[in-house]
Amino acid sequence: MANGQLFAKKSVAQIQAEFNKGELKRTLGPLNLVSLGVGAIIGAGIFVMTGQAAADFAGPAVMLSFIVAGFACAFAGLCYAELASTMPVSGSAYSYSYVTLGEVFAWSMGWLLLLEYGVAASTVAVGWSGYVVSFLKDFGILVPQTMAQSTVQLVDGKLEVLPQINLIASLGILIVTGLLVVGVSESAQVNNIIVLIKVAVLLAFIAIGFTYVNPANWQPFIPENTGGFHYGWEGVLRAASIIFFAYVGFEAVSTAAGEARNPQKDIPVGILGSLFICTIIYMAVAAVMTGVVPYKQLGVPDPIAVAVDAMGLPWFSFLVKIGAITGLSSVMLVLCYAQTRVFYQMSKDGLLPQVFSRVHPQFRTPASGTVVLGVVIAIAASILPLRVLGDLVSLGTALAFTIVCVSVMYLRAHNPDLARPFRAPFGAPTLGVIFCVLFMMGPILLDIVSKAIGYDVLGGMMGSPGEVDRDPVALGILVGYIILGVLIYAFYGYKNSKISHPQPAE
Ligand code: ALA
Repeated sequence: MANGQLFAKKSVAQIQAEFNKGELKRTLGPLNLVSLGVGAIIGAGIFVMTGQAAADFAGPAVMLSFIVAGFACAFAGLCYAELASTMPVSGSAYSYSYVTLGEVFAWSMGWLLLLEYGVAASTVAVGWSGYVVSFLKDFGILVPQTMAQSTVQLVDGKLEVLPQINLIASLGILIVTGLLVVGVSESAQVNNIIVLIKVAVLLAFIAIGFTYVNPANWQPFIPENTGGFHYGWEGVLRAASIIFFAYVGFEAVSTAAGEARNPQKDIPVGILGSLFICTIIYMAVAAVMTGVVPYKQLGVPDPIAVAVDAMGLPWFSFLVKIGAITGLSSVMLVLCYAQTRVFYQMSKDGLLPQVFSRVHPQFRTPASGTVVLGVVIAIAASILPLRVLGDLVSLGTALAFTIVCVSVMYLRAHNPDLARPFRAPFGAPTLGVIFCVLFMMGPILLDIVSKAIGYDVLGGMMGSPGEVDRDPVALGILVGYIILGVLIYAFYGYKNSKISHPQPAE
């Protein structure tokens, strides 16, 4: 077999034809697309993880972490926008890679997207379970801890297996899976209503909360470094790599290109518009949260509820929990939906077994693939803790964004004359790569450099030299996942790829 297969490419016309066959209705305008983006973005990142990022790493300066992470995503977003306008097809970055870089990159991209969407959905499910348990408690229903906590826990950086399982989180995923099997996809109207509810709740939190802010809580704005990546500028950056999660999902807008009225213009508007709106909302929410409650008290699964409780407004606490539960449900649905779409497309292309692209005769959905993915995500959500899952998403996503930025550079170098209705500003792809690599590898690179030159490159500010604060479990899982992907491609995808082994009947 010629090694050229690894770099076999689909033509834009081929992808276009595939999606034309789907006869998707082009109904989405710029507002719907921005709403789709906001629907996929605002979730566990702001409702759950901001608290820990502030309490453990950045203090009130978590506001700055949101700007840093927002910038990194904006560079990647600009690259997504350029690719989407150049190739107005659905299927997201997996399809883009198949056209630009070739099969082996498309496989890697698809495999990473499966991880990103799947693990992000598990993470959101864990956050969702926290708010559901707290909501039920308000009604006197106590869910035993053994049914609402992950089996694996990180205690002082060490893994511990405890006799408990987060059944509530897995239940959330199984409900979403059921909806996806029977075909309740994110219809634009339902999505718009849910987005309105969660944005309204956050805006109310900002407006009401500002009157309760005690500016003394913002002092010191960047607390002194206490070792490692805890506080100080190192902490702001570490928090940014956690907060990165809060922006994941904006690329889901690109999966809707096949349903957009004017994808070349509106997909960039959808991606960049939703990123901009969310950055502003996130910074304001972080400002209120850390202004109402001293940052050290925010390291809980429901930090917004804690801030509202501190205001002494029980009715508002009820509304916030409803907003969080609704909002997190929609994120789970969109992420699982996007994941099943990539899985389906990879299976159709022959890179994964055919059974996963079989469409259910009655529901007209890829039911078997949806169920398999749903069960895997539910298991991950029930046993792994939020911190490991969140780190895994940030790592996998930063890697996927890096490939997208590289695709843009590659395409500019090899097809300079291709029509690009939207062109990312010069330097955006390079800056995107730099930011994403820093988020993925920053602490580890610093550790390697420090050891290599025998000097702490942060001038002794990192506490004990060589301390690595990126969760090693997440990195281990990512490496294992990539090795599994290579094996599946080598033993299955490579032999069965339809583009390299066309079948006469099709
Ligand atoms: N950005 C999404 C969230 O924060 C994944 O839940």
